[in-house]
Amino acid sequence: MQEAMKVTNQRYRLGYHLMTKGGWMNDPNGFSWFKGYYHMFYQYYPYAAEWGPMHWGHARSKDLVHWETLPVALCPDENEDGCFSGSAVVYDDKLWLIYTGHHVTNPKDSEEFYQDQNIAWSEDGITFHKYEGNPVLRAPEGNTKHFRDPKVWQEGDTFYMVLGSQGSDELGRALLYESKDLKQWQPVSVLDKAATLEDEGYMWECPDFFRLDGRDILLMSPQGLEPQGDCFRNLNQTGYLLGSRDEHEHLVRKNFTEIDRGHDFYATQTMLAPDGRRLMTAWMNAWDSPMQEKEDGWAGALTLPRELRVEKGRLYQQPAREMASMRTRTLLAGSLAAGSRLPIPATSELELEFREAGDFNGSLLKITGGTQQLEISLDAKGGRIIVQRTTKDGSRAARLLPFEDLKLHIFVDKSSAEIFVNEGELTFTERIYWQEPLELSLSGKAAEAARVYALEKETNQY
Ligand code: FRU
Repeated sequence: MQEAMKVTNQRYRLGYHLMTKGGWMNDPNGFSWFKGYYHMFYQYYPYAAEWGPMHWGHARSKDLVHWETLPVALCPDENEDGCFSGSAVVYDDKLWLIYTGHHVTNPKDSEEFYQDQNIAWSEDGITFHKYEGNPVLRAPEGNTKHFRDPKVWQEGDTFYMVLGSQGSDELGRALLYESKDLKQWQPVSVLDKAATLEDEGYMWECPDFFRLDGRDILLMSPQGLEPQGDCFRNLNQTGYLLGSRDEHEHLVRKNFTEIDRGHDFYATQTMLAPDGRRLMTAWMNAWDSPMQEKEDGWAGALTLPRELRVEKGRLYQQPAREMASMRTRTLLAGSLAAGSRLPIPATSELELEFREAGDFNGSLLKITGGTQQLEISLDAKGGRIIVQRTTKDGSRAARLLPFEDLKLHIFVDKSSAEIFVNEGELTFTERIYWQEPLELSLSGKAAEAARVYALEKETNQY
């Protein structure tokens, strides 16, 4: 029996983000609602703080705040080298998982593999049974070995699946399939594919497709894009294509837009909440992130659940409203003068409004802890906001729509920060390995409206 990895040092453990109890986590999977609980699954390797043969870790929550870790939902069996990313749907009073079987064909070369799609079901949302007729879908003609990450949803009595793939022209694409029972799948279309390798990548990981505010949106994480332009696009990116699904089941859409502009954001997954909100979460890391917590026996976390909406032809994100229930103390409600300094807890939430900041140029604030610092600045000339952390290549910038007041909403959690700018027009997600205590300091401009809340650890069951 292999021993599950144990956490050896608490210093970077997150207070209110979902993470493993030890071992490795990457993509969120199977984000769903079943019998009174939100369910979250994730790519999980229990035996080391490194990627390994993938399992599906599992947690559930009634309120998106308190998560209860459940037994591992899927383990790779003797025919599989990993249960890769996928999704969940409720059908026939059961929770069904749709996942990718990863099969390495040459033990000496992990790059020689094939992938197929599989299902598993549960009646209680805790114990899962793999379907004996697996796999339910194999790669079609004209596809390379990249064929993974099924996202399934229901429309009327039909299930649809969007799948990440690479065509034989070596461009990334999203395939669309349909089924009445999750077991028999028929191809529908190539929903969309990369315009060019340079602009849209050679493989689209973790696609997700949904309608929101009258638009059709395809989220995906393309591989193979180069960092670009003065806005330092990430090497590992997740973005969206916004448009409309035509009568041939093709997406007619605008260019690829990166969803989050920070370093640590990849492989999104959404779900439709019972109240109609489109909620999204992502891996709060990326493949090239340093993940300093590996030294302590764990790696990876998920972002806060975020509510999505379309405004001004863009995708906006706000923290799920449930997050407000984590506020246990209001440390400040008023304003903060330029140059002021305030100790803040390592688990805290800041809402800062800088009035008439449209032409302000320079540093706005810093959050410092020991040798590590996160700084937010404005570049008036370029109309950009810049987030900089004390690491090599630590700077990320993005253009803002014209504005008068700048609103920053920041969630600080031990070794992470999620920054929402101007009601969710832009977000930056960063892991940053501060040493406590933390201090907020304002630079050259006052925040006329400022609120600081302590978010208590007890809100999480870890
Ligand atoms: C994305 C990804 C998926 C794959 C999974 C494997 O981060 O590469 O495409 O299913 O991770 O863990």
